[in-house]
Amino acid sequence: MKIIRVLGIETSCDETSVSVVQKSSDGNIKILSNIVRGQLDVHKDFGGVVPELAARAHSEIIDKITLIAIRQAKIKFKDLNAIAATAGPGLLGGLIVGTVFAKTMASALKVPFIAVNHLEGHALSILLEHKIGFPYLLLLVSGGHTEFTVIKKFNSYKRIGTTLDDALGEAFDKTARLLNLGYPGGPLIEKCATRGDPNKYKFPLPLIHENNSDFSFSGLKSSVAQNILNKKITEKFKCDISASFQKTIVEILLKKTQHAINTFNNETKNKKTVNVVVAGGVAANQFIRGSLENLEKDINCKFHFPSQKLCTDNGAMIAYAGIERYERDLSNKLNFKPRPRWPLDKKAIFMKGKRINA
Ligand code: KG4
Ligand code: ZN
Repeated sequence: MKIIRVLGIETSCDETSVSVVQKSSDGNIKILSNIVRGQLDVHKDFGGVVPELAARAHSEIIDKITLIAIRQAKIKFKDLNAIAATAGPGLLGGLIVGTVFAKTMASALKVPFIAVNHLEGHALSILLEHKIGFPYLLLLVSGGHTEFTVIKKFNSYKRIGTTLDDALGEAFDKTARLLNLGYPGGPLIEKCATRGDPNKYKFPLPLIHENNSDFSFSGLKSSVAQNILNKKITEKFKCDISASFQKTIVEILLKKTQHAINTFNNETKNKKTVNVVVAGGVAANQFIRGSLENLEKDINCKFHFPSQKLCTDNGAMIAYAGIERYERDLSNKLNFKPRPRWPLDKKAIFMKGKRINA
């Protein structure tokens, strides 16, 4: 049996991750190792990611993590068929660290270098663990992106909705900062919300009545800020705001998914139940996962989530996208430049800030 093994490197934000994934000719996919190191201590005093510090932290550990990933995979460097790295979108400093390291390895091992779009990594991450046929509808909810994309097949993606301002993870992080919960915001809000009353506060549902699959989260954050104004931020207050915030998010996601499903059906001439893959850091949220699953029948779809470790940034999804590219001879030259902005759908226009002129 033929086996392909690719090493994947992820350094686009505040997670340094290296993974080895293998695919055999019978289609079987196995994660041999997936080492992830966060940078909590580096950024926690700043309430968010400091790009320069992130890049330095990546460069300090990337070689060590790579050795651990190889050792844990129980392979030798010579067993690798290609080296893949996130080449965008993301913070430029981190992207340079990851791609330069990957290119150096590739040239030393005389194997192809593969530049992977981070969003493609998230989009395909579900396939590491589940067999889902194309086409499927992707709801990507991460720290930098929030969008609906029709995944027609590998390398054929059409965006059908996006955020006009903040990404959903960003809204979690900013709300957590307003509540003095700290960084990273998403998991802290989730934890706090388990002790709160989800019906205590009513937040706006931006763009909910508009006939599209677009999002806007900046108004939601402002509404949280207004609720906080002149209030004593007690533990109970934090928990009630967090729970109400999460409940609002589920309402927005469900309504917009309903619209996106109609567009998906038109685009793909689909008449069956739609597979909706929710990926990216926010998809790790247990409350959101559970709530969407409970409500899937209402909108005639089936939600799928990667396991939690594969929702947040990881090298395995980059290695896997690398395998799919390697199989199609889609490697890159060593002068490939990282792309801080790199849409998954090449024809999609940049929408942030468009709401004002819409
Ligand atoms: O996909 P990801 O790891 O990185 C990007 O590509 O952006 O997503 C990070 C985002 C952060 O905004 C983080 O707060 C959010 O995902 N996040 C969560 C949870 N875990 C991570 N948001 C809500 N609940 C969580 N449990
Ligand atoms: Zn990500």
